[in-house]
Amino acid sequence: MPHLLPLLLLLLCLPVYGQGPAARHERPLPPDTTAWLDTEGRYINAHGGGILLHKGTYYWFGEHRPERGFATTEGINCYSSRDLKNWKHRGIALSVCTTDTLSEISRGCIMERPKVLYNEETRQFVMWFHLELRGRGYEAARAGVAVADRPEGPYHFVRSTRVNPGQWPLNMPAENRTRQFPAEEVKEWWTPQWRQAVEQGLFVQRDLQDGQMSRDMTLFQDPADGRAYHIYSSEENLTLHIAELSDNYLSHTGRYIRLFPGGHNEAPAIFHDPATSTYWLIASGCTGWEPNEARLFSAPSIWGPWQQHPSPMRGPGAKRTFGGQSTFILPLPAKQGGGWIFMADVWHPRSLMYSGHLWIPIRMNPETGMPEIERQKKKK
Ligand code: DGJ
Repeated sequence: MPHLLPLLLLLLCLPVYGQGPAARHERPLPPDTTAWLDTEGRYINAHGGGILLHKGTYYWFGEHRPERGFATTEGINCYSSRDLKNWKHRGIALSVCTTDTLSEISRGCIMERPKVLYNEETRQFVMWFHLELRGRGYEAARAGVAVADRPEGPYHFVRSTRVNPGQWPLNMPAENRTRQFPAEEVKEWWTPQWRQAVEQGLFVQRDLQDGQMSRDMTLFQDPADGRAYHIYSSEENLTLHIAELSDNYLSHTGRYIRLFPGGHNEAPAIFHDPATSTYWLIASGCTGWEPNEARLFSAPSIWGPWQQHPSPMRGPGAKRTFGGQSTFILPLPAKQGGGWIFMADVWHPRSLMYSGHLWIPIRMNPETGMPEIERQKKKK
């Protein structure tokens, strides 16, 4: 695996444990922190994020989180870097609306897991994110979209939506569209009858008119043809969906599939390995801010068939994804040796702002062709 060497060298240089005494901290770094500092010595406040590589610069977009509380007070943060090591704060890329309390993105909404793609045709940068409406907890389960002419923004909010109203998933058997689910069999969650109903599309049916729920999410641009996909936790976080985006990336085409109905997967992150023509998807289970064991799926096409494998995490801490939760998988350019970086959030729910970042190179096992992720020991 000669291509892994440059990647490992790069990762050993990443500022995982702070940047020395000159750094200005909002508060002292705890000894084992995974919080990172930007070039100004401030905490990198970009959580649930993703990275766009554009013209040799990496742009890291993530949730700006307040020191206290969960609601979004500022918006989506942006940092840029040419070496993946020194991150310059570029400001808030998408701001909450501070003047109109009726705006869907008014201050106090919740913006999570932003991801950005560049659309070659429209020459626009398109951001999708999970949006919860102000004062409504996590019940809205919407996807927001915003656009910009420059990678760092400012992004202009276009709209928010539930996904694909009126459209059935491509892989949902026709008989389940008209299946009756007697209320007494499905009102209690987690019973065997309820589980079966979920698999058969109980919540897809319920949400058909208004569109499917969309919470934890990522975007994927297929290098083969430039088509883009929105991958999100739907159906009360019980089932992942993969939905195709329109040519301009600003809406959905109506084509989507369900992945492992009732599998209770969230925090999706995806990459494509051209060597084996395989799409790999890593997700977490649903335990709030608590880490859990990662899940791994693969498919020969984005449309499936998808199969599940054991967790790709290896070594100490693997059972709880080393304390992190997947957010994005960053492909590295071939001229830098190629390969991928698995990015995860180490959540600190008491003060989400100080949540940390865990970036680990993905190793493709030459014998099995499968991804493996092992946390390197801390450098002394
Ligand atoms: C887990 C999700 O992965 C996070 O993005 C966030 O939505 C929390 N749940 C909220 O409890």
